[in-house]
This record gives sequence, structure tokens and C-alpha cells, in this order.
Amino acid sequence: MTTKDTVARRKAPLKTPTGLSASATQDISGSLNLLLADVYALYMKTKNFHWHVSGPHFRDYHLLLDEQADQLYDTTDPMAERVRKLGGTTLRSIGHIAGLQRVLDNDADFVTPQDMLAELRDDNMQLAAHMRETHSICDEHGDVATASLLENWIDEAEKRIWFLFEAGRKGDEPGR
Ligand SMILES: [Fe+2]
Repeated sequence: MTTKDTVARRKAPLKTPTGLSASATQDISGSLNLLLADVYALYMKTKNFHWHVSGPHFRDYHLLLDEQADQLYDTTDPMAERVRKLGGTTLRSIGHIAGLQRVLDNDADFVTPQDMLAELRDDNMQLAAHMRETHSICDEHGDVATASLLENWIDEAEKRIWFLFEAGRKGDEPGR
């Protein structure tokens, strides 16, 4: 193969056949790749807090955050593969994630357990809101399969939010 052929192959679009329109592929893939970057960033932050949490509730919080990190990680492969099934391309590197993520990193030396739970709750709420936006884009294009995946991922985010809210509530506060 000549160098010219190699370059042409490298630049060739990945034309996965799909029944959806080209604009559906572009819109939904773009939205899913942003979500994927957010999920990786939130996975990393959840692990960061799992590793660095301290205090009297250490065991509970340490284990809760590990469960939540596992759930986020399990989302990544089906999300990336969904983009490929739609005919789009997905993330390629940590740098790619950093360029797209909307979830903010937290590199602080020390974060109190209460602040960890509150920050993760807010991040998960933002993630769920962005998932709902992606769901609307899927509805516009009639992409029921991605919408169905998103419905489960939104439910999981809402469960994480619930646990983070309850775990972070002081015992004498009335419930909502
Ligand atoms: Fe661990």
C-alpha cells in the first residue's frame, strides 16, 4: 500500500450503515460524546472521593462511592458503542475527555465528606439534566433505542442523587 493510500484510509469516514438520517447521526453522536466525557469525568471524581474520604462515616461513604463509580464506569462502553452503531466516532483519549467534559474536576487537597456528597449530588443532577436533553434530541430523530438506554441511565443517576442526598442529610433535618 502506498503512503497516499494509507493517508486516504486514515481520513476515510467510518460509514456504518444505519436507518437514521445523517443529521441524526451527527446530533445524537455529538450529544452522546459530551455525555460520555461527563461520565468519565464524574467516574474519576467519584473514585477520587472514594479514595480520599475520611471521618466517622468512612466505611459507608467509601463503599457508597465505589458502587456509584462502578455504575458510572459500566455506562461508558454501551454509550460509546451506541455512538458507533449510529455511524459516529467516539472518544479516543483522556485529552479528548478533558476537551469535552462539562463536569468540573476537583483537585483540592482536602474536601470534607459533606462537601463531597453535595458536589457529587449536584454533578449527578447536572448529568441527569443533560441526559434528558439528549433524550429530546433522540425523540426529534425517532431514535428509540438510544432513548431507551438513556431512560435507564437517567434512572440510575436519580438513584445516585437520592443516595447522595440521604447520606448527606443531617439526622435532625426534616425530609423533603
Ligand atoms: Fe476501592
